[in-house]
Amino acid sequence: MFATRALEGQTAIITGGGTGIGLAIAGALGQMGANLVIASRNPENLARGAATLTAAGHTVATAQVDVRVPEQVDAMVETAVARFGGVDILVNNAAGNFIARAEDLSPNGWNAVIGIVLNGSFYCSRAVGRHLIARTSGGSIVSILANYVWTGSAGTIHSAAAKAGVMSMTQTLAAEWAGHGIRVNAVAPGPIESPGAAKQLWDSPEAVKRITDMVPFKRWGKPDDVANVVAFLVSPYASYITGDILTVDGGAWLGRGTFGFTTEQQ
Ligand code: HXC
Ligand code: NAP
Repeated sequence: MFATRALEGQTAIITGGGTGIGLAIAGALGQMGANLVIASRNPENLARGAATLTAAGHTVATAQVDVRVPEQVDAMVETAVARFGGVDILVNNAAGNFIARAEDLSPNGWNAVIGIVLNGSFYCSRAVGRHLIARTSGGSIVSILANYVWTGSAGTIHSAAAKAGVMSMTQTLAAEWAGHGIRVNAVAPGPIESPGAAKQLWDSPEAVKRITDMVPFKRWGKPDDVANVVAFLVSPYASYITGDILTVDGGAWLGRGTFGFTTEQQ
């Protein structure tokens, strides 16, 4: 974490900010002085997240929203503006995921994940982008991808395709909105300890071991490993960075060499 309060007076919306990585991101931005709006579907997640952030001394509002519904997304931005006077930062962190073979995945299953990750990130970026463009003082958007944007992901075709779409959206908006002073970046995490992801994707000790063995560092990332990078990207320390995808995965996607050697084995 940066020692400074470089985001003092700014307001950040973090979708999925009540749990896991999103909650850690909210905590990091709060520590840098930002007002926080955490936004997701489940009021219990929002209440628990807000209580944690408030206990840490941060200023927090909640917005109940399904990011698949554009009207609810617009209302989320209105809530933030009404409470804090404006929005400066958006973190597209909300996601849905589950393991399914492509040939077994139903159209509804595909649409659920594409709807949350790809459409939801667009609706949120559009709503906050419109606000930032009208306000004319710039801002910053960061989307949370996954390291499999570089490789594809056998077993989660919906998420891989959606995250790759958000990567392209990041690069596109970076160019389109640079003239408005809006920086648009993304972070691509590898396996990160998070109960929400564990429930969906690695619900057994065998799966946890298999995934750990794929990471050259031989450890999982912590939510703060992602949060610190988001904090950097939205801060003035990254003022000349836009359209970039920062991978935070302990070298996992590079550790997929054909012969499987890692430094430990050589
Ligand atoms: C097969 C499934 C399924 C599963 C749901 N579906 N779960 N199909 N296997 N495990 C199908 C349903 O049968 C249905 O299709 C369709 O998906 C929609 O299901 P709903 O339950 O109605 O969807 P909804 O309530 O909108 O919930 C969305 C969700 C859910 C994505 C399905 O899991 C969710 O809300 N997840 C949020 C939290 C989450 O996933 N967090 C993990 C992020 S971690 P039919 O045809 O039956 O109607 C992450 C990490 C990646 O992304 C990187 C790791 C390295
Ligand atoms: P998580 O705790 O399950 O986070 C998902 C969040 O998204 C929840 O807070 C959930 O809240 C919210 N959400 C889901 N559907 C939504 C919708 N339709 N509208 C609004 N909010 C919605 O899992 P996580 O691991 O912290 O994941 C956070 C981000 O990191 C995701 O983008 C994920 O893809 C990414 N990621 C995680 C890992 C990992 O290893 N953990 C690796 C790479 C990338 P509600 O249920 O309250 O709506």
